[in-house]
Amino acid sequence: MKNLVIYFSIFGSTKQFAEMVHDKVGGEIKELKPIRPYEKEYKPLLAFSKQEVDNGILTPFEELNIDIRDYDNIFVGYPMWWYTYPPILKNFFKKYDMTGKTIIPFNTHEGSGTGGTYQMIRNDVPEAKVLDGLAIRGGSMNEKQRSNVYKWLENLGF
Ligand SMILES: Cc1cc2nc3c(=O)[nH]c(=O)nc-3n(C[C@H](O)[C@H](O)[C@H](O)COP(=O)(O)O)c2cc1C
Repeated sequence: MKNLVIYFSIFGSTKQFAEMVHDKVGGEIKELKPIRPYEKEYKPLLAFSKQEVDNGILTPFEELNIDIRDYDNIFVGYPMWWYTYPPILKNFFKKYDMTGKTIIPFNTHEGSGTGGTYQMIRNDVPEAKVLDGLAIRGGSMNEKQRSNVYKWLENLGF
């Protein structure tokens, strides 16, 4: 079974989480990068992303250079954005055929936890099997989380 880790991260906490997942499960790791880079300043980022979410915009991303048919397990890491998962990841699910894939979500947040996003992914991508994810507060993302991340993956059979 081949593994692909896909992540989106602006401030680095989800990136760190994704790298731990990749260290454990191996395979390929790819970052979803918007073609038009997001503002790194919080206020304009909040405003811009809110209108994307509210208008159902599917954020275009840079070419990933993958053949999705090569992978069985797709680990997807993202920060909670406006009580949902980010539009760039919605676009990933739209662009690639997820039929028969196993999706393993994981996310960072600042209070919403999983925020119901795993169920949202199940609803949006019914052609895939979506396993139970792991949520970690972005502000608590550090090396000490590695054992929690590995335990979660081991419980899922990885
Ligand atoms: C645009 C935006 C919207 C956010 N919305 C939420 C939210 O709805 N719930 C929540 O708990 N945290 C929210 N956050 C906090 C992020 O999920 C959190 O800081 C995350 O760890 C950032 O991940 P990153 O470091 O990988 O970019 C939001 C942050 C941003 C920038």
